[in-house]
Amino acid sequence: MPSDFNPFEPGQAQRAWPLLAKLRREGPVAPIAGGMHYVTRHAECREALRDTESFSNASGMKAPGVEVPFEDRILGELDPPQHTAVRRVMVTALTPKVVHAAEPFIRDTASALLDAVPVPGSADLVAAFTVPLPNRVTVHLLGFPAGDADTIAGWAKELMVSEFPRTNRTERGEGFAAAFPDFAGYIDERVERRIGEVERGEDVPDDVLTRLVKLEVDGVRLTRRQLRALTRNLITGGLTTTSQLLGNLLHEVLATPVVEDAVRADETALARAVDESLRVAPPVLFAARGCVRDTAIAGTEIGAGERVIMGTGSANRDEQVFDAGGEFRIDRPNSDQHLSFGYGPHVCPGAGLARTVARIGVAAFLERFAPGSVHLTAGYEFENVPTFFEIGPQRLPVETMAP
Ligand code: HEM
Repeated sequence: MPSDFNPFEPGQAQRAWPLLAKLRREGPVAPIAGGMHYVTRHAECREALRDTESFSNASGMKAPGVEVPFEDRILGELDPPQHTAVRRVMVTALTPKVVHAAEPFIRDTASALLDAVPVPGSADLVAAFTVPLPNRVTVHLLGFPAGDADTIAGWAKELMVSEFPRTNRTERGEGFAAAFPDFAGYIDERVERRIGEVERGEDVPDDVLTRLVKLEVDGVRLTRRQLRALTRNLITGGLTTTSQLLGNLLHEVLATPVVEDAVRADETALARAVDESLRVAPPVLFAARGCVRDTAIAGTEIGAGERVIMGTGSANRDEQVFDAGGEFRIDRPNSDQHLSFGYGPHVCPGAGLARTVARIGVAAFLERFAPGSVHLTAGYEFENVPTFFEIGPQRLPVETMAP
């Protein structure tokens, strides 16, 4: 019997876990609402995510039937061969060397944001810390003016909580440029300026924007519309996702004294906690694909034209891979086998950056606040962000006191 579960429904992420556990028990591929299939287990998710010949990214995270015009597609909405060429650039823009070079900036920015939290007093760590830190890092890497960071964060957040990720439209219009004219206009202006500088042979920084502007696919440069889509991709791809990771991890540390003690005691425990947080509270709950040729996953036939949801968050709790998968266990030996960054040709190119921002961000938090000097406001209950595919706290209200 197909379940009426619809992963594109607003609010479903908040209540997904019991249902996903049930679907996982029933089988590796579950029929769900609207003729879609949900891949529930770890091995099958990995296998299907590798298979780009059967499963296309063309409609990305869009709801069934919503098609994005080719030139407006972000990297996660491209298939080979375009995907292969564009991805190469994104990957070289986010190498371990680039991330390592950004570490002092990440550390200084984290400390400055935490210094602004009143002591004694109260604050919401989502607004004060987990949202602005990843955003300032992205703006820094793109080479945009630091003073524009808050405006960019506001646009990106509005986009993520709107219906746009599902429908490719808002009440303002269809497609990114019509749906978010201010955000698109800002990116266009930065892109235009950089194209001009490159064409005039001026000295330009070797940042990701320059690399995108110079990129040629089959001898042809990307169009301005493609440059707009990919720049937006870099802004929105790592922004709310990394905020959710920081928020989920800080929530775990603040709510569970044994976790706080462990990460305070040792840096390697903090690195393990980052992956265990990614596993049990995945910032991105699933990845969507369109089937383009008749095939099968674990014996379930999938027809061309059908929609398949790779349940990476569900796979992270697969009983065959993770004991007591719903529990946060800092000493779990295989936390890093989670699929929260995806798997295969589309695996997240920003994973190293996200892990680094989370590790440095939480280390700065622990350094700023001595044990016992900060706690969640009494009566706090976890409320999830409204985005349909994200897991993360909407608020983290805390009280601080002088040590
Ligand atoms: C905790 C933080 C993050 C999480 C959980 C996350 C998650 C993911 C996932 C699950 C995918 C694969 C989607 C699919 O297979 O359809 C992906 C792809 C992608 N991510 Fe991330 N991401 C994070 C941070 C970042 C950062 C920091 C950046 C860039 C600055 C970034 C940029 C991208 C891009 C461009 C893609 C598309 C890759 C492709 O299709 O080849 N992400 N991410």
